[in-house]
Amino acid sequence: MTSYKIAILTGDGIGPEIMREALKVLAVIEKRNTVSFELIDAPFGAGAYFDHGHPFPEQTKTICDAADAILKGPVGLGHEDALKIPVDMQPERGAVLPLRARYNTYANLRPVSLPKGLAHFSPLKPEVIGDGLDIVLIRELVGGLYFGDKIVGVDDGNLRFVEETLRYDEQQIRQVLIVAFDLALGRSKVLHNIHKSNVLKSSVLWNEVLEEVRQDYPSVEVINMLVDAAATHLCLNPGQFDVMVMENMFGDILSDQCGGLLGSLGLMPSACVGDGKAYYEPSHGSAPDIAGQNIANPYSMIGSVAMMLEHSFGMVDEANNVWAAMQGVFSDGYSTPDLSPAGSRAEIISTVQFGDRVVEKLQAHGGK
Ligand code: IPM
Ligand code: MG
Repeated sequence: MTSYKIAILTGDGIGPEIMREALKVLAVIEKRNTVSFELIDAPFGAGAYFDHGHPFPEQTKTICDAADAILKGPVGLGHEDALKIPVDMQPERGAVLPLRARYNTYANLRPVSLPKGLAHFSPLKPEVIGDGLDIVLIRELVGGLYFGDKIVGVDDGNLRFVEETLRYDEQQIRQVLIVAFDLALGRSKVLHNIHKSNVLKSSVLWNEVLEEVRQDYPSVEVINMLVDAAATHLCLNPGQFDVMVMENMFGDILSDQCGGLLGSLGLMPSACVGDGKAYYEPSHGSAPDIAGQNIANPYSMIGSVAMMLEHSFGMVDEANNVWAAMQGVFSDGYSTPDLSPAGSRAEIISTVQFGDRVVEKLQAHGGK
């Protein structure tokens, strides 16, 4: 029997509700495979700050260090409540970025997937969305502006200023590009390189390194696209993209745009991987406005479990069974509230009902 330790960072807002459904799904997988999952809860996020004085407390670091994988829910508070926490202790800055840095999870894989049967969830016209979407956006996750030095001060003219540094070295760029080329090689062999080399020197270096890395991947076609143009192309013709790679901030912004193309950020799970430990999280925030109402869509959290099964535990078939089960619930005509505009014909189900239906589907199909 293989045994894995998983650190569970439930997070804030809708975190507990969507994590509960994800763990139900994980329990089904455990039961029918020769595998055991030891789940270790650890405080993380705004709640951890209020209870333990830090959004990423020492005890959580110790638990994560010893874990085989980390499953993380969304963190953060609404605008007003966030002001009750000192800026550097706010969970995005004080917990999420340090988590990424600690495990050097330099590649963030964000699948943008809408099978044909679910294409109606997209706000794009049927003739634009076509047979749905199947894109993987790869975002560099531990460099660039989000991690550079910051200076806040008052200048000689008595004006408050802030200076934030965007730094990449060639190794940081190369390591994420290799992930992107490897993925493109296993898919359609087309890689969209998203950059801003007409303005940013960091993109000039990025593209130079890309030219070096691509020598090892002669069968992969590279399409270079400026990030602003990519934003437009994603709306007008998203079907042209398969694997996209980009630096940290571009990826943060375009991946949320991709959530919009799908119809909801609730459909965006993600895997944060490096050379060692990986962690898995929804791409969205903690949605404090709808927390505790049993209406959040747990797809992104359950999808993060699927990504963990595949990437950390090599359980590819079970990962595919989880995707199929979730999509099956939607194709049966059910929907979570985030995906169904007023007047749609879908039967709206709650967070718990969605999780229960996924479990039912999973038990009916797949496994040994
Ligand atoms: C994301 C989020 C994070 C980011 C926040 C929570 C720090 O927006 O994962 O996309 O900006 O990277
Ligand atoms: Mg984001």
